[in-house]
Amino acid sequence: MPEPTTTTIDPHSLKQLRDRLAPPLQIGAVTVNSRVLQSPLSGVTDLVFRRLVRRHAPESMMYTEMVQASRLQYLKETPIIMEIDPNERPISIQLFDCRPDFLAEAAERAEVEGADTIDINMGCPVNKITKNGGGSSLLREPEVAAAIVKSVSSRVSIPVTVKTRIGWDAGEITILDFARRMEDSGAAMLTVHGRTRAQGYNGSANWDWIRQVKGHLAIPIVANGDIFSVEAALNCLIATGADAVMCSRGTLGNPYLVGEVDYFLKQGEFKPEPSLIDRLLCARDHLEMLWAYKGKRGIHQARKHMTWYAKGFTGAAELRKQLSLIETVEMGQALLDGAIGKLNSGEWWAIVE
Ligand SMILES: Cc1cc2nc3c(=O)[nH]c(=O)nc-3n(C[C@H](O)[C@H](O)[C@H](O)COP(=O)(O)O)c2cc1C
Repeated sequence: MPEPTTTTIDPHSLKQLRDRLAPPLQIGAVTVNSRVLQSPLSGVTDLVFRRLVRRHAPESMMYTEMVQASRLQYLKETPIIMEIDPNERPISIQLFDCRPDFLAEAAERAEVEGADTIDINMGCPVNKITKNGGGSSLLREPEVAAAIVKSVSSRVSIPVTVKTRIGWDAGEITILDFARRMEDSGAAMLTVHGRTRAQGYNGSANWDWIRQVKGHLAIPIVANGDIFSVEAALNCLIATGADAVMCSRGTLGNPYLVGEVDYFLKQGEFKPEPSLIDRLLCARDHLEMLWAYKGKRGIHQARKHMTWYAKGFTGAAELRKQLSLIETVEMGQALLDGAIGKLNSGEWWAIVE
């Protein structure tokens, strides 16, 4: 969706918002000079993707993909999903599991790896995770969730944060009590995705529950859910009163979004949009970086990323089909170069989808 260059939000609300969010975000002892975060996305937010996001949002907090704490017990080497660049800051390693002792041990390891904060996943709706007691099933086990936060906080010197949903299903929205327990147990920040576990990623995120959580707690609250544009991020921050906003699916094939929101909050105006050709050049970089970092596996992972970038122009549907089949870095480069050539020559042109 093309970003408007002016906003329909009234200037007074925007000024109030920018004044309110001007000071840095304080997560325990960690100071972050940005009020927009890149969410953890399993299969997406690896070190390569985060490098791309950081080109535009160098000061924003980012997260690794979720790492299973109990699995670390059997691994001497650091798994690739837990790897972070030596200079990447601020960075949170996200862990999931249900046993406080496993999580505490994994958190110690994450601290050694260089994490600035540890985030505990209490929101994942996937059956494979919830049936083992992790992710959003912890919403139904608040005592265990509290024990996890206490146990992890006692073993690391960095802040421990929690990311969760508003409840298990529409009949069991427990976020207010749950959030309070997380704060009382020592969580330094809480991210709330405004959907229930039963919703998965369907329907819309309920920002009003996030507003209520914000009114209920003293620790910073991060609003999450349905942030697909700068305008949506600003509306969400105004509607919820949250301390920060987290972008998720809106960043798929779009590593610009976090930087665009950050820019607006800092400068009070929209950042010039990348052109379609800029986006395809970014896709090319992404492909080459994945190849350099992960080899053949990186190419397979690149397929989905490439199809997310290829949109908004005539010929995009056919290009996506071909990109989803690439076997080598050269195949991807040739397809992207061909598309860039056609956009340059006018054979393909922008369309508003
Ligand atoms: C492909 C995918 C992977 C995700 N992986 C994680 C994850 O590893 N950890 C986590 O806390 N949330 C994960 N999420 C949830 C998102 O971080 C976010 O909470 C959710 O997508 C809601 O925001 P949105 O409506 O703006 O996308 C994932 C979501 C998607 C779509």
